[in-house]
Amino acid sequence: MTSIKVSFTHPELQAAAVKLAKRLDLALISSDKIAAIGRAAAQVSDSSVAGSGEQPSYHLQLAPEGLSLLPVRRNQHGPVRCDFTSGAFTHRRKFGGGNGQAIAKAVGLSGKFLPGVLDLTAGLGGDGFVLASLGCRVRLLERNPIVHSLLRDGLDRAVMAGEQDSELADIVARLSLIEADSKQFLGQLAASEQEDIVFLDPMFPERKKSAKVKKEMQVFHSIVGADPDAGELLELALQRARYRVVVKRSASADHLAGMAPSYSLEGKSTRFDIFALQKLPS
Ligand SMILES: C[S@@+](CC[C@H](N)C(=O)[O-])C[C@H]1O[C@@H](n2cnc3c(N)ncnc32)[C@H](O)[C@@H]1O
Repeated sequence: MTSIKVSFTHPELQAAAVKLAKRLDLALISSDKIAAIGRAAAQVSDSSVAGSGEQPSYHLQLAPEGLSLLPVRRNQHGPVRCDFTSGAFTHRRKFGGGNGQAIAKAVGLSGKFLPGVLDLTAGLGGDGFVLASLGCRVRLLERNPIVHSLLRDGLDRAVMAGEQDSELADIVARLSLIEADSKQFLGQLAASEQEDIVFLDPMFPERKKSAKVKKEMQVFHSIVGADPDAGELLELALQRARYRVVVKRSASADHLAGMAPSYSLEGKSTRFDIFALQKLPS
């Protein structure tokens, strides 16, 4: 079981860290203690120090540049964080291929149709951000409190960065985040309430032996698990989508819950399974 504590890098962040720890029901740990555990763990060949007993294997670190999930053993992998101002996001936003991208085709984006999207599995918001950058209004739902905190932090920082970048400000204004289990959220909607497109990207089964699964993704797996209820989510999604349900899968994965889509868009590593319910507006 992954143990996590909350840390902060500067004394002026202590109050915010205490609040976060309380909200997530996690203990607080000082940066000095984290450094000492990390040093001790580095001196033993196995992981018997960090990640066992009372010692956290990860810390959620509050720093001036944002909230990050970090391994206590520093050499394990880099920070997991949500940064919509990063070079990768900015490059994709400017040169990613616009409506020619598979995700845009999957949700049916065109010059004439800018759908509203309900993203039932927001994660760190990557897909939602891409869709919002293409003009969609996106509601992001995330149930894991740690992932939700990282995404909330990324969105808050993008709002701040938007003060100097009006295009980014417009994109973030199209995104809203709700901390909820999507099954409950959908269950509580009024019977007639629908969204144009419902999007799902449940966790892939962990490919333990694959070097392609980045260490950062492994920690995600250990915190979030395998989303075993994703099949139920698909059934609910099909009742709530006006035009389409789009399921993002790894290229080699089976159809979610064994349900055959209307068609698929295949990429090198990713596939979009599209359940078409009604002709898109033209
Ligand atoms: C593979 S990640 C999604 C990655 C995301 N598409 C992105 O681009 O960053 C799956 C996420 O869905 C969340 N999730 C799974 N089932 C959910 C549910 N029923 N309600 C809310 N969130 C859910 C998990 O906690 C996890 O963070």
